[in-house]
Amino acid sequence: MSDPAARAAELRRLIAHHDERYYGHDAPEIPDADYDALVAELRRIEADHPELATEDSPTHRVGGAPVTSLFAPVRHRVPMMSLDNAFDRAELDAWAERLGRQLPGVDLASVDFTCEPKVDGVAMSVTFQDGRFARAATRGDGVVGEDVTANVATVADVPHRLARAAAPFPRLVEVRGEVYMPTERFAEYNRRALAEGTKPFVNPRNAAAGSLRQKDPAVTATRPLAFWAYQIGETEGGEWAVDRQSAALDLLARAGLPVSPDARRVTGVEAAFERCAELAEHRHDLPYEIDGVVVKVDDLALHDRLGATSRAPRWAIAFKFPPEERTTRLVAIEVSIGRTGRATPFAVLEPVFVGGSTVSLATLHNEDQVRAKDVRPGDLVVVRKAGDVIPEVVGPVVEPGSRRARRWRFPTACPSCGMPLIRLDGESDTYCTNIDCPAQRVQRIAHFGSRAAMDIEGLGEERVDLLVDAGLVQDPADLYTLRPDDVAGLERMGPLSAANLVAAVEESKTRPFSRLLVALGIRHLGPAGAQALARATGGLDRLVELAGPEGVATLAEVEGIGPVIAESIVGFLDNPANREVIARLRAAGVNVTETGEAPGVAQTLTGRSVVVTGTVPGFTREEAEAAIVARGGRSPGSVSAKTFALVVGDAPGTSKVSRAEALGIPVVPGDRFVELLETGEAPTVHP
Ligand code: IVH
Repeated sequence: MSDPAARAAELRRLIAHHDERYYGHDAPEIPDADYDALVAELRRIEADHPELATEDSPTHRVGGAPVTSLFAPVRHRVPMMSLDNAFDRAELDAWAERLGRQLPGVDLASVDFTCEPKVDGVAMSVTFQDGRFARAATRGDGVVGEDVTANVATVADVPHRLARAAAPFPRLVEVRGEVYMPTERFAEYNRRALAEGTKPFVNPRNAAAGSLRQKDPAVTATRPLAFWAYQIGETEGGEWAVDRQSAALDLLARAGLPVSPDARRVTGVEAAFERCAELAEHRHDLPYEIDGVVVKVDDLALHDRLGATSRAPRWAIAFKFPPEERTTRLVAIEVSIGRTGRATPFAVLEPVFVGGSTVSLATLHNEDQVRAKDVRPGDLVVVRKAGDVIPEVVGPVVEPGSRRARRWRFPTACPSCGMPLIRLDGESDTYCTNIDCPAQRVQRIAHFGSRAAMDIEGLGEERVDLLVDAGLVQDPADLYTLRPDDVAGLERMGPLSAANLVAAVEESKTRPFSRLLVALGIRHLGPAGAQALARATGGLDRLVELAGPEGVATLAEVEGIGPVIAESIVGFLDNPANREVIARLRAAGVNVTETGEAPGVAQTLTGRSVVVTGTVPGFTREEAEAAIVARGGRSPGSVSAKTFALVVGDAPGTSKVSRAEALGIPVVPGDRFVELLETGEAPTVHP
């Protein structure tokens, strides 16, 4: 919009509307990141056009007023302020520079900061009278909040009396903190809600807010809420003096209040930024959801010197992480068919940048999830992409007054072959059971040639699609009958790429038997199970023998193969169509024995155990493990004293890293994984 005055007015209207949804109804229509973007835009306009700034602009207020009469109003003794945001390093540095200007004579490099996880929950003021829990109030508009004492009394983390270790207490102590729902408990709650057909919560923050906003505390009591204390508020009638924020956190912990173990004190803004970056990287390893880090000046004497603006203290800033939730338009809901025939609904979206990449497709998991979330084509929806988890549609954004499409219905026919889609009683998944379904066929063949399986270079899903479409390939065994001339005529294929593809297919004949087992796509049998099975049997002949009449019991004896996998293998081999494909693969010259050595792959890791955490560039988790196993190594899920090396990719688990460090085990960065595979040596890295 070109007219800044009109845009500022519109932004104020929008912000007021979203404040009311968020604070008044606990029913935000847009993710926090979208809201922050509105406020940031308004702030920019006001900075560029000071004449447009108004007294009551939301850029210097704290949220909206409570609009319910569900709870009694509580006037905060000291207003509950908001925090200013920094979205990147430059904004954090700019904040530090302002601190420097406001604190002449103070050496910034020696200023201590606490860096506390910014828990995504509901801000809470909890008052203790003579050491006993007396009252809890929400932030409300910062001046007047709502009395939720009875509900907060049901939160197990909030002690009914303060611990003696922190005595003597002032007559009145106000503690500030966050009521939240731990991620795992939130997921569990939603799993149950979906199973029972009730509406799941959109995210842990909403779950916490909705659970507190209950007339009946007995309902709140059933919700798995937790609490972190992060600030001492007002005290009266006695001393509870501390001179540092870090000391305040210690005192709160001594008083029996839960304090986040992830809060750290650091010196200088550089170290503060490093801690922010570290928490950003490991945000998904924490058992609670955070959307940033609150950086606070540690020395409370400096707080007094710095003071506050009308909405936020100057001594603290919220370093916000890049958003993992955004809104976008849902264009259509479609269904994809996997290699097992499973029909997965997915959303076609207007592309949106979220969680570090542009997302235009997102999963909707299954029929029940679409129904429970009630998303419909045309809706504005919240899309979430967290870490290396696949993007998903969280739910619709209610747009008052807008007309919506009809409820989406799961198709009754397979979009690929037209045969009926079937959902069995008691199952959440729907299947196309037509073994000849072209979509399944394409997925099966693409899986056969994938990296962790037969590793056929150049045989992606698109190419398989073309081959199947042209009638050249119906099952994996047909790949071995392809001649360069057949392939060369296909779309985007020349003589050279055709020859390369046929050569890659030829080359795959020498893969060890375990790879073939993975490639066949036997349900429940992953790379580790395939390895165990190949080692125990030595090859196809013995496997077929073992899978005879007493097959399930015999195979279940093999280490690493349980009854479920055993049953699945026997079922697979019992199927005449599968037997036929295997016979043709063998006739084509595909290796069906486990030589113990994969031809062409040096056994660099024989007897060594290499643990992988996080995503290694260029490899899926399965592929990374398969690459280790192919070189004679093992890749267990946890670090022990026997671990040879820990490979650390993107978004790794912190506990594995610290355990490896404690045990003195080499920690290899993900980008040097290939070097480790090739040399069998853990590249030494100096931190
Ligand atoms: S300090 C005046 N510390 O973030 C300072 N806030 O806008 C007040 N939050 O909803 C906040 N973790 O509840 C502080 N360790 C932490 C926090 C934290 C989460 C929330 C707070 C409020 C928002 C600040």
